[in-house]
Amino acid sequence: MKDLIDLDDWETAEIEAVYRLTDMLKTDPGRFRGALSNQTLLMLFAKPSTRTRVSFEAGTTSLGGHAIYFEQGQSQMARGEALNDTAIVLSRYADGIMARLFEHDSMVALAEYAAVPVINGLTDLLHPCQALADFYTLREKNIEGPLAYVGDGNNVAHSLMQAGAKLGREVRIATPEGYEPDPEIRDRVATADVHITNDPVEAVDGAVAVYTDVFVSMGEEEDKKADFEGFQVTPELMDHTDDGVFMHCLPAHRGEEVHPDVMDGPQSIVYDEAENRMHVQNAILLRLLGASE
Ligand code: CP
Ligand code: NVA
Repeated sequence: MKDLIDLDDWETAEIEAVYRLTDMLKTDPGRFRGALSNQTLLMLFAKPSTRTRVSFEAGTTSLGGHAIYFEQGQSQMARGEALNDTAIVLSRYADGIMARLFEHDSMVALAEYAAVPVINGLTDLLHPCQALADFYTLREKNIEGPLAYVGDGNNVAHSLMQAGAKLGREVRIATPEGYEPDPEIRDRVATADVHITNDPVEAVDGAVAVYTDVFVSMGEEEDKKADFEGFQVTPELMDHTDDGVFMHCLPAHRGEEVHPDVMDGPQSIVYDEAENRMHVQNAILLRLLGASE
């Protein structure tokens, strides 16, 4: 594999190889200390970030490489330089590119023109690194059973559907009417154990994990929030689960998509998920930028 753009392009075996490498990275980090020495990761951001930026930068450092934070708004792209020229030129300097962009088609084009591996750090459509870290976290904790996502049928929901399909996990998605996942993504997982509903209770009934994300994603209008009444993950909703854990990609908005008692309660594993972003991404960097086992 050259890139990580869309989990549909990845074989299950590749995900499992990333997970085995992540296990090794977590148990014996010293073994990988110089694995990316003299390699540079270019991190191109068109949207804000806390976790993606810092986990990729710190992760690259821990592997002996160097990461450059490159804000699209401060680049010549902001003055109209073509994406293909940018991709070709950046490939002459860096060994890999991680990008967070608006349009998914731009990410696909970036990967097409870049001569080096490109990792999708989120688009309006997908967030594959997040979903890989999330299912790794469940695997690490030996949590088996249905995952229920409650909220907006967004980029995170799409990648959870795809990752769940690849890994043979049951994924249930509950959204308000009109906020269902993208029909193309739904079609692509049509034969998998992925179910869509407009009823949060139906989705979480007997689930082992309840997941939510912001109601308003980066670049969207705030007035959307009014449509999400009844979709907050509350202690009462969690009562319908099978002793389920609570998951969130973060950033979280307490009192909107999640009740503070759930977010900060004993069932919350959100900080383990956030930490695993770095470990799983380190494994992805090793697989794509070379030096892998
Ligand atoms: N979950 C996630 O991608 O967080 P950031 O937006 O902070 O990178
Ligand atoms: N759906 C959110 C995820 C943030 C990590 C967004 O796109 O803003």
